[in-house]
Amino acid sequence: MLTLGIETSCDETSAAVYDSQKGILSNALFSQIELHKNFGGVVPEIASRSQLEKIVPIVRTALDVANVSLQEINVIAVTNKPGLPGSLLVGVCFAKALAWSAKKRLIGINHLEGHAFSTFLEHTVPFPHVCITASGGHTSIYLIEDFGTYRVLGQTYDDAAGEAFDKIAKMLNLGYPGGPIIEELAASIDYQDFFTYPRTTAHTLNFSFSGLKTAVLYDLVKKNAYDMGKKKFLKDHDDTLKKQVASSLLVCITDIFEQKINLATKQFPEVKAVTFVGGVACNKYISQRLEILCKQKNLPFFKPSAQYCTDNAAMIAFVGSYKARQQKFSGFDLDILS
Ligand code: KG4
Ligand code: ZN
Repeated sequence: MLTLGIETSCDETSAAVYDSQKGILSNALFSQIELHKNFGGVVPEIASRSQLEKIVPIVRTALDVANVSLQEINVIAVTNKPGLPGSLLVGVCFAKALAWSAKKRLIGINHLEGHAFSTFLEHTVPFPHVCITASGGHTSIYLIEDFGTYRVLGQTYDDAAGEAFDKIAKMLNLGYPGGPIIEELAASIDYQDFFTYPRTTAHTLNFSFSGLKTAVLYDLVKKNAYDMGKKKFLKDHDDTLKKQVASSLLVCITDIFEQKINLATKQFPEVKAVTFVGGVACNKYISQRLEILCKQKNLPFFKPSAQYCTDNAAMIAFVGSYKARQQKFSGFDLDILS
């Protein structure tokens, strides 16, 4: 069975073809990073306009690379929640029109379910397992019991982990997206913890990163390095301070993830593995530390390769494929839910 996946929930336009026998055949993607760079974050209006421009060529590329025709596709799976309304609408309207005209079945997919099962594109992960999803929009921890069967154990009360990297990078004038830049700066100073920012929500499975962001801000103000009124980093020449903040932030967020794995595996001793997914899982330092922790617990640790950590349609096609097997199709009244 061939599934065409379509993902347009935020600032990536992606389409992929998944073959239930052979696995992933294509994963075409256009990233809008260059369009949003100057704003230090995603601008929704710019994002949806770009989605509209790219959706047709990207779907064409996905079919071409997979070397299949639209007629050979059995199911069209599209992200319909959560995300930016304008961006989601482009993918959902396009998928509905395509499915209607080509007489294909349609399935709406939860973007977070896509991330949560993205490890299966490259690995066979045993059930039940604990999954940490950390991206620019979401940070959650799940107990995954089977394909499509999962429990949310905790989620962020406010900002997502990737958002913390992005917003603190903006504070420091580092550029966008913040995660990879912060990782590079932290590596250059050997991942030392200079400022020991607060490890919030230590005793629950929920997360909170807005307090961490404020703690960094106040610390910079105390060090006369940030002007609250002008919202400006004052010591642009001071590369050492930037590196120290980046490194302390990365160590702090990694400690928080470690605490959650410790807590979840204690609460659910039946888990057979741990997975780490979403854009933040591209981070080598965090992944290595989580892998070491899992090794100590005799638990296999899995994370997708970088192309399947950040937003992609391959994970949407994969979820679409098992939902089709479970006969969980959507009607043409499928709507978005932001
Ligand atoms: O999953 P994703 O592509 O989009 C969302 O669904 O949000 O994740 C993007 C997020 C951004 O916040 C970015 O800063 C973060 O992932 N990210 C990283 C790294 N690469 C991307 N965070 C930490 N370290 C990285 N190497
Ligand atoms: Zn995502």
